[in-house]
Formats: sequence, structure tokens, C-alpha cells
Amino acid sequence: MEWVSVRMRASLRGRHVSGAERIVRQEDIPSTLCELIKRPKTYDQLHLTVERLKDVEIFRANLKISSYTFEDVNEARDFAVQVLSKSGVSEDLARKAVNLIRSGASPEGWNMRGAVLMDINTGERLEEDPYRGVRTVRVDWLKREEVSRYLTSQGYTLRTVDALAIATKNIFCGVLAELCWSDDPNYVTGYVASSKMGYVRISPLKREGDPLGGRVYFVKKEELRKVVECLERKALLLDL
Ligand code: COA
Ligand code: AMP
Repeated sequence: MEWVSVRMRASLRGRHVSGAERIVRQEDIPSTLCELIKRPKTYDQLHLTVERLKDVEIFRANLKISSYTFEDVNEARDFAVQVLSKSGVSEDLARKAVNLIRSGASPEGWNMRGAVLMDINTGERLEEDPYRGVRTVRVDWLKREEVSRYLTSQGYTLRTVDALAIATKNIFCGVLAELCWSDDPNYVTGYVASSKMGYVRISPLKREGDPLGGRVYFVKKEELRKVVECLERKALLLDL
């Protein structure tokens, strides 16, 4: 059966403002394009990519979701460090990851265009381009509407639907643990994900109005090539 990757990215004055993707059947391309072009509130350029996929694997998503809310950012970040520690990351490296995202992980102290790759044993940064990092793409839910309905009925947001897909693909590809919070100044909930701890939502991982965010993927250096190839190229449809 043939599947197609439909991707949208939009920018304003050279800055990325919105991105989304779907993996759909040929006959659903027009409606998907119509849906995706409505997503960015404002932009001066919008790019659409429609790409036929050769091999798509279907994978059962099995990350348990939990949510924790704290009085302040420092407590929430300490908790994220604990969850990373329980996922096999040393406390030092977990703090290093928090500090990287907090202060902007690109060399200019701003957001990267993708995720940091960090060696889980040494803390060495492994991404080729520290402004770009690596992006998790070619992933979607097999039954997106059903999953969205289910997760929103449980009190989760549509953001969680997308972030859970990324986190699940990351683990599938060999990412051992992930720390994430958004660069959206109005969205302060982030997460730690790992196969042992599941998808742990944590709020507030930053202060309201803070424009910095990012992702750190903990990986084994010796698996780097295989993991990056999987994150960027492998097409994965998630079943719940
Ligand atoms: N952040 C910042 N810049 C981005 C970007 C992002 N997330 N995605 C794309 N860009 C910009 C970069 O300048 C990039 O150049 P680079 O590769 O040198 O960094 C340029 O656009 C082209 O990127 P490309 O990777 O070719 O884009 P794409 O057409 O394959 O689309 C997206 C990638 C936008 C779909 C992906 O980044 C994204 O945001 N996915 C949505 C994630 C998601 O919610 N998935 C869950 C689905 S269930
Ligand atoms: P967001 O949750 O979309 O606000 O993204 C938070 C941060 O994660 C961004 O600042 C990027 O550094 C990084 N990022 C965005 N999209 C991706 C992706 N598809 N894969 C990996 N990292 C990403």
C-alpha cells in the first residue's frame, strides 16, 4: 500500500515559525494540504513537500503518559533531572542538558533548528552542525483522528499528540532518553521521555514569555550513524 509524506514549514522574516507533517494515502493529499496550510498564524513564506514513501513501518506506541506540575521552574527542572537519572543519564549530564536548553543550545545562545545529540557516557555533543542539530521526521499516527480524540478526552493537548509521536519515534530509533521544552514563549510544559520512564510531562520547565527551548537526545556514540539515519529517514506510522 502506498503512503505519502506531506510536510509544511513556514517562516517569517527568515525565522521558522511553524512546521507539521502527516503520512497519508494518495487520496488524502488534497485535504491534508488544506489542513496544513491553515496552521501557521502568520508567515511570509510557506513550503509544502509531498514525497512518496517506499517503506513504511507500523509500530505500536507504548509510552505510558504521566504529568507532574510544580510551583516553580527550578523544582520542575530538578524533577526532570531526577527522571533523566532514572532513565540511565548521570545527574551531571542531565543538569548539563537542562542548562544547554535554558541558555540556548546553539553557539550564539539561541534556539537550534533541531535537537542536540549528547553522548550518554561522556556528555560530548555529537551533532555535525550545532546550529541545526538533528530533526525527527517522517513520523505520524496511523489513526491520527482517533488518537487525537482519545488524548484530548484525557485532558492532553494536540501538541502532546505530536510531541508523543516524535518521542516514540526517537526511542524506536535508539534515543535512550530525551529532554524537551518548547521555544514557544506561551508554552511552558515540557517532557522527559525514555523507554523505562515513559512520556513524563513536566510543568513549568520555563517561565512564561521565555523564547528559548530545545531538545536533547541522549545516545550511544557508537550508534550515532544508525540513530541519525533512522531519525531523519525512516518512515514510521504509530499505532496506539
Ligand atoms: N525548526 C527550525 N527550522 C526548520 C525546522 C524546524 N523544526 N524545520 C525546517 N526548518 C527550516 C530549516 O532552515 C531547514 O534547513 P536546515 O535543514 O539547514 O536546518 C529548512 O527549513 C528545510 O528543512 P527540511 O528538513 O527540508 O524541512 P521539511 O520540509 O522536511 O519539513 C518539518 C520538516 C517542518 C516537517 C519538521 O521540522 C517539523 O517541524 N515536523 C513537525 C514535527 C511534528 O510535530 N511531528 C509529529 C507528527 S505526528
Ligand atoms: P517545539 O516543541 O516545536 O517548540 O520545538 C522545541 C525545539 O525542539 C526547537 O527549538 C528545536 O530546537 C527542536 N525541534 C523542533 N522540531 C524538531 C524535530 N522535528 N526534531 C527534533 N528537534 C526539533
